[in-house]
Amino acid sequence: MSRTVLRRIDHVGIAVHDLDQAIDLYERRLGLKAMSRERLEAEGVEVAMIPIGDSRIELLTPLGADSNLRKFLADRGEAVHHVAYATDDVAAGLRRAGEAGAQLIDQAARPGAHGTRVGFIHPKSACGVLTELVEADGHPGR
Ligand code: CO
Repeated sequence: MSRTVLRRIDHVGIAVHDLDQAIDLYERRLGLKAMSRERLEAEGVEVAMIPIGDSRIELLTPLGADSNLRKFLADRGEAVHHVAYATDDVAAGLRRAGEAGAQLIDQAARPGAHGTRVGFIHPKSACGVLTELVEADGHPGR
């Protein structure tokens, strides 16, 4: 079995109905500050990153009508959507999970937000939590 090191929680993804409102709420109520915002058309989501220590909170809202995230929000309402672990090697992490019987959403690493590479493991294979592996792409401060 391949050896993979997950180094820390990279971010926790939180599904929200309204990104502006959610950013405002996190800034006013928790005193945090959103640093970046990005539309991921291919994913059908818009995300805002809020740094907290070595980790971040990722607020996500659906863009299109057929976004999977819209389904999630309809079923569960605003809630924690996924947990992302930082690793040096997403491909190895996916391979390891697959070899250990996990259902993979991504068979290979693919581009994520902010120049990262990401891969997702199905919630059924991680105690009900959609699990993201994320590999920084040489970005400073990540
Ligand atoms: Co994420």
